[in-house]
Amino acid sequence: MFRSIPGRHLLPQAIKHRLIRSIYPHIDSPPKTIKPIEFWIDVVSGCNLRCTACPVGMPEYSNSIGRQLTEMDPELFDRICNKAKQDTGGNCRLGLYNWTEPTLHSRLDQLLAIAETHGIPCGISSNLNHNYDWSLLKPRKLANFTITVSGFTQKVYSINHRGGRIEPVLANLVKISQLLGDWESYQRIDVRYLVHRENQHEISLFKHFCEKLGLRFTPYHAYYMPIDKMFDGVDKVPDGLDYIYYTPMLVKEVIGDHRSQRCFMRETQVCLDVNGDFSVCCVESPSSPRIANYLTTDFKTMQASRYGSDLCRDCTANGINIFATYGMQEPVEIQQAIEARLPVHLADLA
Ligand SMILES: C[S@@+](CC[C@H](N)C(=O)[O-])C[C@H]1O[C@@H](n2cnc3c(N)ncnc32)[C@H](O)[C@@H]1O
Ligand code: SF4
Ligand code: SF4
Repeated sequence: MFRSIPGRHLLPQAIKHRLIRSIYPHIDSPPKTIKPIEFWIDVVSGCNLRCTACPVGMPEYSNSIGRQLTEMDPELFDRICNKAKQDTGGNCRLGLYNWTEPTLHSRLDQLLAIAETHGIPCGISSNLNHNYDWSLLKPRKLANFTITVSGFTQKVYSINHRGGRIEPVLANLVKISQLLGDWESYQRIDVRYLVHRENQHEISLFKHFCEKLGLRFTPYHAYYMPIDKMFDGVDKVPDGLDYIYYTPMLVKEVIGDHRSQRCFMRETQVCLDVNGDFSVCCVESPSSPRIANYLTTDFKTMQASRYGSDLCRDCTANGINIFATYGMQEPVEIQQAIEARLPVHLADLA
């Protein structure tokens, strides 16, 4: 995010422009935003599942296969909260996940309490396979609680949620409704159904199940990650991922020569691993190189290193940023053209 420099209006336009270009070499003008900065923080080092379209499930990119799980120390988390607040003037929010499963942290409730003491809205996203003690969440406030699913029967669920079991997911949803039904954050729970070619016939079943439990249900186009697979997917569908219909190839055909420097993933999002190290992009694999540690890096320096990265340059040159952000920041004609090409229209399913 580009933040205003006191007295910057005193600089002649040409000098100001040159200065900006040296900080953000690949963009025409720096983003001006008052949106909160979102920090995606992996509070553990891995996940219990091996989803087909997630790098965690891909041996070459995984943070979990054959690795022991480690947890972020609450003291480190506290320091990150402090700096995030300072860096953003308090205009920030946290999600305790990027490539991991937050419910595996043995003191998740303590981390949530720390974020609350700092007054920072905080959310989680879970695959709900782990039998977490959900009652621990009751004293806490959550900005969002996303529950990611992709089928109602085991056969369909396991197409994407490899290594997962639908039975504990459904049992945990029932438990959550019983334990937390009168919780103030209950309305912020969102069961996110990742829609792909082979699971559409189970959407209404899952939706009905959620309705019975008073839970919000949102269908969402599944895509594949990490960014390396998105690059591969511009020319051909990577092996094993043909069940996904929202593809880089489809977006490439729709956008033609249209390119854009917009990307909320770098404008308003920062992702940190379990050690507090940052990388360029939230859809970069967990095994990708880290740039530096967040705590020891000035915010502007961090953003300059991300904006100036070869990865962002190549990504925007190929329109991958448009694919990865579902074209949400593009002109409405582009958004509509993408939507029109998709075989599934989410509005009809919600
Ligand atoms: C990689 S997950 C990590 C958190 C947690 N393990 C989970 O799966 O909810 C981070 C976010 O990515 C979303 N996600 C996972 N797989 C996806 C896919 N194939 N397409 C689009 N979004 C996906 C999830 O809904 C989640 O909110
Ligand atoms: S999508 Fe979530 S549950 Fe699935 S492997 Fe990735 S981090 Fe784990
Ligand atoms: S690599 Fe692409 S998607 Fe990622 S932050 Fe940079 S521009 Fe955005």
